[in-house]
Amino acid sequence: MRLAEKTIAALKGRRPGYTLPREFYVDPDVHQLDLDHIFYSQWLFVGHDCEMPKPGDYITLKVGDYPIIVVRDRQQNIRAFHNTCRHRGSRICSAAKGSSVRLVCPYHNWSYDLDGRLLFARDMAKPFDPKLLGLKPIACETAAGFVWICLAAEPPDFEAFRAAMTPYYAPHELGPAKVAFESTIVENGNWKLVWENNRECYHCTPNHPELCRTFPEAAAISGVTGAAEDPLIGEHWERMEQAGLASGFKIADDGQYRMTRMPLLDGATSYTMSGKDAVARPLSANVTTPAIGALLTFHYPSLWSHVLGDHAVTFRVLPLGPKQTMVTTRWLVNAEAVEGVDYSLDDLTKVWTATNDQDRRIVEENALGVASPAFEPGPYNAKHEGGVIQFVDWYAATLENALSGRARTAVA
Ligand code: FES
Ligand SMILES: [Fe+2]
Repeated sequence: MRLAEKTIAALKGRRPGYTLPREFYVDPDVHQLDLDHIFYSQWLFVGHDCEMPKPGDYITLKVGDYPIIVVRDRQQNIRAFHNTCRHRGSRICSAAKGSSVRLVCPYHNWSYDLDGRLLFARDMAKPFDPKLLGLKPIACETAAGFVWICLAAEPPDFEAFRAAMTPYYAPHELGPAKVAFESTIVENGNWKLVWENNRECYHCTPNHPELCRTFPEAAAISGVTGAAEDPLIGEHWERMEQAGLASGFKIADDGQYRMTRMPLLDGATSYTMSGKDAVARPLSANVTTPAIGALLTFHYPSLWSHVLGDHAVTFRVLPLGPKQTMVTTRWLVNAEAVEGVDYSLDDLTKVWTATNDQDRRIVEENALGVASPAFEPGPYNAKHEGGVIQFVDWYAATLENALSGRARTAVA
């Protein structure tokens, strides 16, 4: 049987409410399907506008086999290109981030403008048409301070997500914020194990002493059901709406993304050891209401984030292979906030640095266990792991639709 048919059969045959079969966590062929039909097809969060404040500022990343550059052009637009020279294919920018008036390939110095046009290619025989050899563009959007790309030739709709997220995010002004700290860790586990772990807090009490000082482990907070029926959450939503902060629970029709605003544990305002703010200045001057809790977002397969009153923390998930995932965490604060005056990096980053490392260990142990030929799918806890069930259902439906031709997933 061909791989696509075999995978469709495995998805159709999986037991609902149970983990995926072993091959989905370990098999290089299934991983290639994940790349082709998810990471090369869906919109991906790559970074923040504020990381590229001036024309020429860029960040680079790699999605599967695609090296990518994201750059601000002279008209202030953020654009994305394949980081592959049109001469003999060298990578043009090798740094993780930088700033340059032109994008110059280090191999033979072909030079590209910030809009991707080829400006200079020394001594090429005529006829030579530089217009045919600009950098290949990648679909790129910005929304509320988040930059997104999509590698598909015909990207899926982005506007519904923009419309859903904007009311929640607009007051927080992440566009002009600053990244106070960024960390990248590699977890030796399939990207879906990283997400499964993220989508529940059943594991929080035994594993996350620092986070549990402020983040409630209730399933209604991290999951996708029960929030509207929870009186504490209802009270919080009411107080937030009165303060002009969009609340409630917004989930995409296909389950790809969700936004909601959740209270932290009593008396806590931020993810610190004390529960008090880590940053003396509010993230946005527009939002000074005390104890706004956390604006929680996920967008499969590449982003989850928390926006608090004093800072925001965003997480980008990119697979490095079938058994390896990179997680990049950014802590955003008010652009005017000064390290050592308004905040200490240690206080700001301590809880999530510890939590990330604990989650890495959890994912790696999970990965070692599911790699065993003795592993068979086990039942999720319906009360505490509803969020995981929702993620796995989204993944299975997305992959199955793509493989059976019900969704366009052509790669550029
Ligand atoms: S490969 Fe880029 S200039 Fe030759
Ligand atoms: Fe965790």
